[in-house]
Amino acid sequence: MEVINEKEKIRELIKEAMRMREFSYTPYSHFRVGAALLAKSGAVYGGCNIENAAYSPTNCAERTAFFKAVSEGEKKFSMIAVAGGAETAKNLGYCSPCGVCRQVMMEFCNPQEFMVIMAKNEEEYKVMSLAELVPEGFGPGNLG
Ligand code: THU
Repeated sequence: MEVINEKEKIRELIKEAMRMREFSYTPYSHFRVGAALLAKSGAVYGGCNIENAAYSPTNCAERTAFFKAVSEGEKKFSMIAVAGGAETAKNLGYCSPCGVCRQVMMEFCNPQEFMVIMAKNEEEYKVMSLAELVPEGFGPGNLG
């Protein structure tokens, strides 16, 4: 039963990531990304990439989702779905979070527990733990 619910949740998150992708602002790269972040509270926070004429202020979809959530009082998260690909692409590939976004995840998530879902569509997706994406990562626990 739990497994079915988990699969359903993943599909829901992928759907939301795809919907968020429509809001991406990408006049420079034309690479559109959407994300949907599930907080342990049960709330889902969406995000898209937002580019900038000065380039470096660009914010990735994943960080947009995290910053929206944290700014609403959330600090605990279970998983994030990411859907990304070129504006002209007929089919999406697996969009892997950049290093900066992985580091932001390290700040708020347990690397063994937190799952990153990279989705081509609702049926085709890869699931990896944050620990797999950031081996020997540096997080708040390393400062103690
Ligand atoms: N980007 C994301 O939003 N998330 C990723 O996982 C990879 C990259 C964005 C940043 C930039 O707007 C565009 O995709 C091309 O790098």
